[in-house]
Amino acid sequence: MESRITASRRTALGRMVLTVSALLLLCRSAVASCECGYSIADPDSDAGGTLVFTDMFETDFTKLDNITLSRHWERMEFNVSAEDGRGKYGKRFMRDNIDTQISRFQEDGSDDAGLGLRVGGELTDEAVPAAELDSYRSDLHWGSYRAGMKTTGVNGTCAAFFWYFNDTQEIDIEFLSRESDSENDIYPLNLVLQTPESKQAGYDAIGTGSYRRVNLTFDPSAAFHEYRFDYLGDRVLFYADSKLLADMRGKGVPSVGGHLILSHWSNGNGNWSGGPPEKDALLTVNYVKAYFNSSDPDVLSEKVEACSSSNTTDTEDAVCAIPKVTADDARTGGRFFGPMEDGEGGEGRAIDEEDGASSVVWGVPIALVTVVSVAMCLMGAV
Ligand SMILES: *[C@@H]1O[C@H](CO)[C@@H](O)[C@H](O)[C@H]1NC(C)=O
Ligand SMILES: *[C@@H]1O[C@H](CO)[C@@H](O)[C@H](O)[C@H]1NC(C)=O
Ligand SMILES: *[C@@H]1O[C@H](CO)[C@@H](O)[C@H](O)[C@H]1NC(C)=O
Ligand SMILES: *[C@@H]1O[C@H](CO)[C@@H](O)[C@H](O)[C@H]1NC(C)=O
Ligand SMILES: *[C@@H]1O[C@H](CO)[C@@H](O)[C@H](O)[C@H]1NC(C)=O
Ligand SMILES: *[C@@H]1O[C@H](CO)[C@@H](O)[C@H](O)[C@H]1NC(C)=O
Ligand SMILES: *[C@@H]1O[C@H](CO)[C@@H](O)[C@H](O)[C@H]1NC(C)=O
Ligand SMILES: *[C@@H]1O[C@H](CO)[C@@H](O)[C@H](O)[C@H]1NC(C)=O
Repeated sequence: MESRITASRRTALGRMVLTVSALLLLCRSAVASCECGYSIADPDSDAGGTLVFTDMFETDFTKLDNITLSRHWERMEFNVSAEDGRGKYGKRFMRDNIDTQISRFQEDGSDDAGLGLRVGGELTDEAVPAAELDSYRSDLHWGSYRAGMKTTGVNGTCAAFFWYFNDTQEIDIEFLSRESDSENDIYPLNLVLQTPESKQAGYDAIGTGSYRRVNLTFDPSAAFHEYRFDYLGDRVLFYADSKLLADMRGKGVPSVGGHLILSHWSNGNGNWSGGPPEKDALLTVNYVKAYFNSSDPDVLSEKVEACSSSNTTDTEDAVCAIPKVTADDARTGGRFFGPMEDGEGGEGRAIDEEDGASSVVWGVPIALVTVVSVAMCLMGAV
């Protein structure tokens, strides 16, 4: 972050522009601080209708010094036997395979930042070392769920971003590294709703109508991209970089609240994960954003109450439109609404730091700009 700020401050003019933009941003966020929720375009509306979610949490893993500081995520530690996991080997999920200090997992030369989830290249007691991170909140109901991720190029793992209630109420985005064929530019992505039907078929959703294998137009292991699913009343929509990949409806769509999970594993089952990998394999997650309605009626009504008591003259102004992340900004995740996690920089603090540093040298001009900007803000000019 230091270098980004330094680079953009080459000239006095640049500095002023930066400060004015920062202040205008503060001004705008003072006007719209999302008291009434977060919106996406309604997929059923041609007339610009929106769907609103009242709750959210966001984690920018690139700014989280230590995953143990997270208020939203818990690293899991458990074993799954080969038999229970329907694999050739067991799975050993270990906290030590998850870290935001990812240099210890990386080969030299990578400057990626984020959360690393490692699958070990060496078996321990006939089990493959794996990684799983769960959200603490388990009241995630209708919502729009997004993760910035870069998958592994190592053959033989399954990387997943999913929503889970139980084995028959589950929404999955799964990457099988064995399926990526860079020679022919084919990058399949598996989109699954686990349903009572897929349970009957031995958790094989293929052929149950709630499974789709789509081809991505990019190599998911070459760069960060945003993967998203919108879990709505009667359907689940899947996206990559805000482009629609699949729209699933019907009985398979879950109905309850659940939690979010990030995982990276292998068990040697040639029909799914393949592997085990010949060397350590790394999934890197740079952020997760969850915008949702709570399935807990008390939490939901608290949010509705917060909106109506926020004294906003116009409720629509108090709803923030969730920006669409594209391939160009998937590396940073674009805009975060905050509040950020403890130990994270985040949007708010970045602005404070810029103002603080600027005022050392630019005290007088900044003061003038501040007065003008605040006046403009109060006059409603922006
Ligand atoms: C979320 O809850 C709010 C408040 O009850 C409601 O107005 C809104 O329609 C809900 N959103 C969805 C997508 O169901
Ligand atoms: C992260 O925090 C935990 C718990 O406080 C500590 O044991 C660990 O050493 C920290 N990791 C780093 C890399 O500082
Ligand atoms: C998983 O299995 C290993 C032995 O293979 C054992 O040392 C470890 O304690 C187990 N972990 C849990 C959480 O049960
Ligand atoms: C999952 O939860 C649903 C809803 O409560 C229930 O009907 C179903 O039987 C559960 N499935 C399993 C495998 O427990
Ligand atoms: C991964 O390994 C399997 C088994 O050896 C092979 O069939 C598959 O083509 C490999 N995939 C890639 C992407 O190399
Ligand atoms: C994905 O690409 C493969 C190989 O070209 C092709 O056989 C398959 O039909 C494609 N899948 C879709 C859904 O277009
Ligand atoms: C893989 O799928 C084939 C065909 O459906 C099946 O015969 C085989 O038992 C499966 N292998 C595993 C390890 O599940
Ligand atoms: C809203 O207005 C009422 C009455 O004017 C006041 O008591 C309350 O503190 C205000 N709430 C907020 C969040 O500003």
